[in-house]
Amino acid sequence: MKQNLRTLAEAKSHSEPITWLTCYDYSFARALSETELDLILVGDSGGMVALGYSDTVPVTMNEMLMLTSAVRRGAPEKFIVGDMPKGSYEVNNDDAVSNAMRFVKESSADAVKLEGGVTMVERIASITKSGIPVFGHIGLTPQSSVASGGYRVVGRESGEGQRVFEDALAVQEAGAVAVLLEALPPTLAQTITSSLTIPVLGIGAGPHVDGQLLILHDLLGLYPDFRPKFAQCFIPDVLDAFQDSIANSPEDPRTKRLDGLRELSRLAVESFIVATKERTFPGETYCYSD
Ligand code: KIV
Repeated sequence: MKQNLRTLAEAKSHSEPITWLTCYDYSFARALSETELDLILVGDSGGMVALGYSDTVPVTMNEMLMLTSAVRRGAPEKFIVGDMPKGSYEVNNDDAVSNAMRFVKESSADAVKLEGGVTMVERIASITKSGIPVFGHIGLTPQSSVASGGYRVVGRESGEGQRVFEDALAVQEAGAVAVLLEALPPTLAQTITSSLTIPVLGIGAGPHVDGQLLILHDLLGLYPDFRPKFAQCFIPDVLDAFQDSIANSPEDPRTKRLDGLRELSRLAVESFIVATKERTFPGETYCYSD
């Protein structure tokens, strides 16, 4: 079943963890569409893992729209969040609304995500007023992380936890339908999750949130340059199941064989979904300390 804003809100109220993965192309989107995954993020991380930029800053609106359209063609029944790239929403409300509208009209995204808390409330409110659901993104915000001290856990230094908490409240107040916490100490993430009425998703924010996001290329071990602490690769967990798939795959090469990367990826994604739903992911190895 395709998720919507109502089912996401219900998931929070029933304490059912929400599962969310990034995706950037048609083939992986098709594989994801065969799973029970709740949400897809076409992240600006695609600028790095799919387009080869060294960080997320250079990726453009047109590139994001191309990636999002491809994912939509592969996963027509999934709730897709398009990630607004750097420069597409910060300058003024009109730019923010028209670029968000491009995600919806040109790439059939269901919602958009943008980085920033208190400083972005006007943008979130404007896009929301135009009828497009917004996912906030606070904590570590990679589009501005070089300026703010590189990739690091946010919320441990004096006053920082309080600022992140205020960002979370501001994003909710501005009308965001959900918020993503990136790289936060687990206890701070738990406090924010229990204080907000909207779903709070986490990536590197520990287990006590309403749902987990992972970057598909980390889950599959496809990006060799850097793997953050929270990025569990699920391939080792599914090798036995994959051997069984190969053994039981139909002999006729014209039928749908289950002996390739697609099936291995699908099994790894299923394993992430089960681990998230059962709250065994993220285990301690994949959490920052408080
Ligand atoms: O682009 C992306 O994948 C993201 C995550 C790092 C949160 O925004």
